[in-house]
Amino acid sequence: MEISDVAGDIESVLLTEERIRERIAELCREIEAEDAATTDGTPLLLVGVLKGAVMVMADLARELRIPVQMDWMAVSSYGSSTQSSGVVRILKDLDAELAGRRVLIVEDILDSGLTLSWLVENLRSRGPASVRVCTLLRKPEAVKIRVDVQHCGFDIPNEFVIGYGLDYAERYRNLRDVAVLAPHVYA
Ligand code: XMP
Ligand code: MG
Repeated sequence: MEISDVAGDIESVLLTEERIRERIAELCREIEAEDAATTDGTPLLLVGVLKGAVMVMADLARELRIPVQMDWMAVSSYGSSTQSSGVVRILKDLDAELAGRRVLIVEDILDSGLTLSWLVENLRSRGPASVRVCTLLRKPEAVKIRVDVQHCGFDIPNEFVIGYGLDYAERYRNLRDVAVLAPHVYA
């Protein structure tokens, strides 16, 4: 879906499809270099957080020139539709065992940090060799809890964004760009 298909719902385009593609390629070079230094011959385990990370995961995994496995977790953080509370519940757990594995969490966005900090601790408790984090987007002004992020695509303003996997009420995930949602949509 293109911006023009939902033009009335969009305040502004933040990141174009092209800009996202370029940045993901850069992130992949970082991830490959990091992995080359730590690899033990087994594939890197990419853990995608459903549903927002599906697009990042699909593009990142295909751009990476190292063996990977993909697994998925679905979590819900209680709160309003545009703000999370930090109380996290697992809706779908991983299929993979993490013992001894090199894990890279793949996220769409780090907002308050509450969801991701919970997730990092949860995965760490399963005995992996390492847990690292790659997030496409981060809102520095919204952070409530510090999360170590090894790979970040873009720091963005503290506005609700949609597209490229990110939704409002399950809509706009298939938008190719990342855009700021017009306030009239959720007001
Ligand atoms: P926290 O605040 O826990 O947020 O870091 C994590 C989850 O909240 C969702 N989120 C957003 N979703 N536009 C969205 O479509 C946004 O601007 C936004 N901010 C947070 C997202 O699922 C993320 O994983
Ligand atoms: Mg969401």
